[in-house]
Amino acid sequence: MICDIDLMLKEREINHLVDIATGDGWFAKELDLVFQSVNKITGIDIKNNGIDQFYQHIGNSKGNFICSDIHSYHWNDQDIDCIGISLSLHHLSDIESLLKKFYDILANNGLIFIREMITDNLTPAQKNQKTFHHLKAKMDQVVGTYHVNTYSLDNIHSMLEQTGFIKIYEQIDTNSQKCIKTQEVIESRLKVLKETAEKNYQGKIPPKISSEIRQLEKNIEQYGFSPPPIYLYIGLKL
Ligand SMILES: C[S@@+](CC[C@H](N)C(=O)[O-])C[C@H]1O[C@@H](n2cnc3c(N)ncnc32)[C@H](O)[C@@H]1O
Repeated sequence: MICDIDLMLKEREINHLVDIATGDGWFAKELDLVFQSVNKITGIDIKNNGIDQFYQHIGNSKGNFICSDIHSYHWNDQDIDCIGISLSLHHLSDIESLLKKFYDILANNGLIFIREMITDNLTPAQKNQKTFHHLKAKMDQVVGTYHVNTYSLDNIHSMLEQTGFIKIYEQIDTNSQKCIKTQEVIESRLKVLKETAEKNYQGKIPPKISSEIRQLEKNIEQYGFSPPPIYLYIGLKL
């Protein structure tokens, strides 16, 4: 269950749900469970490494995975009445224009679900996750992959205010504040960071980055590592 208003939405039949930057399609699957029925589910992602899991989550009969950059995707569908975007606002450039585009292509009475991590009111362990994420984003940018820092709630609100959607629900899930990750997960995260640095800087890691990684290791040792608060927004197009 992604939110507690699903009783209200349960009555709805959705014709065509599109999950933007779908990855392995887990969010599309969660949205599928929110409604009484969903006829068709399209997942769009610039990479196709999640395609097999997408079809495992959604099934072949109603699922359709499209490998495309969302910025150059040609929207021919007239029937889209639900859009999902999970953990991806900060992976998409020109996000304000994209949100307006999503508003335009949605049918009247259509819904948008946005799920995004935020940088407000973090515990020390969550600050470590934020530092990890921002370092990773910086390294991705070095090789031309768009990836920016996560947004504050104010940033997200101001982006959404301009879109035309009417907010029908919002929730901040702070449960994750309690969930300190295990040592195994922490080690694997640090490994990802070090390997990405090696690869993206081609063995010439800037001293500033190395020292930021070392500092992060120390901070994690002291305060732990924990997932960020997650913001969920549901908007309606009238
Ligand atoms: C952090 S993952 C989120 C995946 C999934 N929505 C989830 O909640 O687990 C970000 C996703 O954005 C995709 N992505 C990044 N840039 C994109 C673009 N320009 N067009 C479409 N997908 C993009 C990535 O390939 C990746 O699957």
